[in-house]
Amino acid sequence: MIFESHAHYDDEAFDEDRESLLEQIGRSGISHVINVGASIQTTERSIALAERYPFVYAAAGVHPDETRELNEEKLRWLRQQCGREKVVAVGEIGLDYYWDATPRDVQKKWFWAQLEMAAETGLPVIIHSREAAQDTLDMMRKFAQLHEARGVIHCFSYSKEIAQEYVRMGYLIGVGGVVTFKNGRKLKETVEAVPLESILLETDCPYLAPVPYRGKRNCSLYLPYVAEEIARIKGCTPQEVEEATWRNAVRLFFERRG
Ligand code: NI
Repeated sequence: MIFESHAHYDDEAFDEDRESLLEQIGRSGISHVINVGASIQTTERSIALAERYPFVYAAAGVHPDETRELNEEKLRWLRQQCGREKVVAVGEIGLDYYWDATPRDVQKKWFWAQLEMAAETGLPVIIHSREAAQDTLDMMRKFAQLHEARGVIHCFSYSKEIAQEYVRMGYLIGVGGVVTFKNGRKLKETVEAVPLESILLETDCPYLAPVPYRGKRNCSLYLPYVAEEIARIKGCTPQEVEEATWRNAVRLFFERRG
């Protein structure tokens, strides 16, 4: 069984066959899919998918690129969504200095507000961080000092040393298709350096399809290729990887605090 911890089936890349693909996924070895919001609109769509498909769950949150759209009223709306039964995380939230689509102080303000919202509502967080290693680490460290560190650094792209620091604080590391890439050496080193108990499987589909589908549209059905590569690095079986990451995800997303 596989737990898909990060997908975007609301994306237009799935407009033509969303229904048949999700039905196929529901019949496959994928037990859970978390469809992750990245804006107010995609959070709404994620919740709609979660309400339609029993194995789909939603994360509610606004991606750093989109934080310019946020205000107190929209934050209140997001907080209300966190109380829904099928909303199991706040995300994806974080910092993105690669696109720099929104001023950095605005990104930081709403990143912190959404972290606080997660703590208040008892949900774990799904973190997006690109070219913003130090600022993200600083904020996640501060958060871990104030609250229980429950979350995943999704599509982890930094050094193994940074990964180990997140793991020490109690966060998990999201690993997807990049680990199968020839130029994915940094992520392979991270997988080698952190325990299997700290890894989640994810696609970030429609993006980042693993080899042999690299460059094509990604979907949860390709996760066995990711599990296989992690198993090769760890010297265990793909089944052990699937089981361990499944348990990690269930622990993170379904064990509510207090
Ligand atoms: Ni994503």
